[in-house]
Amino acid sequence: MSRLNIVVGITGGIAAYKAVGVVRSLVLAGHDVHVVPTDGALRFVGRPTLEAISRNPVHVDLYEGVAEVRHVAIGQAADLIVIAPATANTIAKLAAGLADDLLGNTVLASEAPIVIAPAMHTEMWLNPATAANVATLRERGVTIVGPAVGQLTGTDSGPGRMEEPDVIVAAALARVEASARRDLAGRRVVVTAGGTREPLDPVRFLGNRSSGKQGVAIAEAARARGAQVTLIAANLEVASPGGCDIREVSTALELQAAVTEAASGADLVVMAAAVADYRPASISESKIKKQPGDDGLTLELVRNPDILAGLGHAPHDGTLLVGFAAETEADDERLLELGAGKLEAKGADLLVVNRVGWTEGFARDDNRVVILGNEGVLARAIGSKMSVAHEILDVAAPRLRETHEPG
Ligand code: CTP
Repeated sequence: MSRLNIVVGITGGIAAYKAVGVVRSLVLAGHDVHVVPTDGALRFVGRPTLEAISRNPVHVDLYEGVAEVRHVAIGQAADLIVIAPATANTIAKLAAGLADDLLGNTVLASEAPIVIAPAMHTEMWLNPATAANVATLRERGVTIVGPAVGQLTGTDSGPGRMEEPDVIVAAALARVEASARRDLAGRRVVVTAGGTREPLDPVRFLGNRSSGKQGVAIAEAARARGAQVTLIAANLEVASPGGCDIREVSTALELQAAVTEAASGADLVVMAAAVADYRPASISESKIKKQPGDDGLTLELVRNPDILAGLGHAPHDGTLLVGFAAETEADDERLLELGAGKLEAKGADLLVVNRVGWTEGFARDDNRVVILGNEGVLARAIGSKMSVAHEILDVAAPRLRETHEPG
């Protein structure tokens, strides 16, 4: 990657000490890094540390450097802005577009991609005000990295811990690469994500452990690469990405209706959702009660349609179909055989084989997949769900129809 001009905004949270690692990695990767700390950040890390590590002068005061119009110059020159840690206060200010300090001015004056790594106590992260501000930023295309779940400053733990510096740096650089790579511009992409739920009665359902993280990452990655994305979201446990047309569904039949409609004329359909193969034969109108003296309950299930196979076996000229295979098979060779069988049985063009288990695959931030085509193994990807998303698109993009030039 060529040398980038990167602004690292550091705000006033204890994780500010870890931001030094973010600055250092970016400098060692050859980038020109300009640190813009808030006053609060300087209570946690000293300016000399930031100047030494970034190898550039560090400015804080809005009223210094007025002759060179510094309050807008830093943002205008940036190729990327990373804010780590981003406190709840800074996130609120960014959402509102406030510019009462140098960092606020820098962000408003910039057209560069913005990547933020929130860090705060769990209660603050879960507070509806913070959640609404984060959703606003996501909607505007800001990339949110983390927060991770783990030990916080005190004895408490939960979501709110700043992601590790190497994860933030990788996500930030991937974001710039993705924005530079507009290979899906003009393409229409449909992604299914999450897991379907099949109701038994008004209070219960049969579901699965898919969180939707991998599908959401694919939707975000495709959008960053210029596609117009429809995300068919089945009971997501993660926030849906900004800038996509979101269609919420719950059951397999609802997902089928939504994807069949959206897939018509699409260039790429990625079926990342975990779809229930069976649904209760009937849905009880009232809560199913225990019967006195019974020692079990037998449910009658009926087959759901195989949605991917339905699309794969219908004429779909010009639409590249990517399926997923979730397998618990431990043996690698056997796993690939199962994948190859599914690719053929479903009439998909590509199949992303993903091992799942009690601790693998579901709800995690990282993933390990093999991408199969009719020719065999095309790629193996391991890493964050976002980097795996880009690798899947790297394989898919050159295979899209050539009937129209991407605009
Ligand atoms: N899929 C689908 N409709 C279904 C079941 C699965 O469209 N009723 C899609 C999934 O979205 C995924 C692919 O098919 O892209 C494979 O899903 P998976 O659960 O691995 O396979 P199944 O077909 O359910 O096969 P099995 O459960 O027998 O392994």
